[in-house]
Amino acid sequence: MKLTYHGHAAWEIETSGARLWIDPFLSGNPMADLSPDQVEADFVVLSHAHGDHLGDTEVIASRTGATVIAMNELAQYLAGRGLVTEALQLGGGQTFAFGRAKLVPALHSSSVDGRYMGTEAGILLRDTEGTVLYHAGDTGLFSDMALIGRAGLDAALLPIGDKYTMGPEDAAAAVEMLQPRLAIPMHYDTFEPIRQDPHAWKRMVESRCGVPVLVLKAGESCQLAAGKGAV
Ligand code: NI
Ligand code: MN
Repeated sequence: MKLTYHGHAAWEIETSGARLWIDPFLSGNPMADLSPDQVEADFVVLSHAHGDHLGDTEVIASRTGATVIAMNELAQYLAGRGLVTEALQLGGGQTFAFGRAKLVPALHSSSVDGRYMGTEAGILLRDTEGTVLYHAGDTGLFSDMALIGRAGLDAALLPIGDKYTMGPEDAAAAVEMLQPRLAIPMHYDTFEPIRQDPHAWKRMVESRCGVPVLVLKAGESCQLAAGKGAV
């Protein structure tokens, strides 16, 4: 599985079966290294409906024909806007060309222009080669992260920005519960209120949890393998 960061909570994932994007917020994202018309996608997976996650989904999925995988209410809303969607609910998964996608709990909210869009979710992906990736979405810390970790995570993408999500301390506690083979920080530095030092977080997590941390800049990639983390 090849994983590329595009700033904020936007990730591109290439598997042997397909190309996926998670939370493709590019227009208006000062960290983004691509414009939405450069995106190729077979699937877009959404954690929730806030603008910094739903982002350019509509433009990208309309042009590419990508299937949008999201919580039921958000999937219905996007289907109503003409997109191809697949609805999931918390705890439920489905097998697609790239492998399996499952939505897991997250502590946050989800709305478009104040309209309720179901709950926020985290995203658990297992590709056809068995590589497991957890994208926590926007979330506060919760103890059931220990259950999510039981999936055996090759990598966990965790918000560290504070204010709207976990801050560095809580994200370090999340790593302790999740026990991933690799932790990667996200959802920081995009805007002034979520400015953080990811390298300070890396030092804290590596010394406290013994879990390696990879700090990626927008446009940088890593390769993950089943049971190995980053290779
Ligand atoms: Ni949000
Ligand atoms: Mn957010």
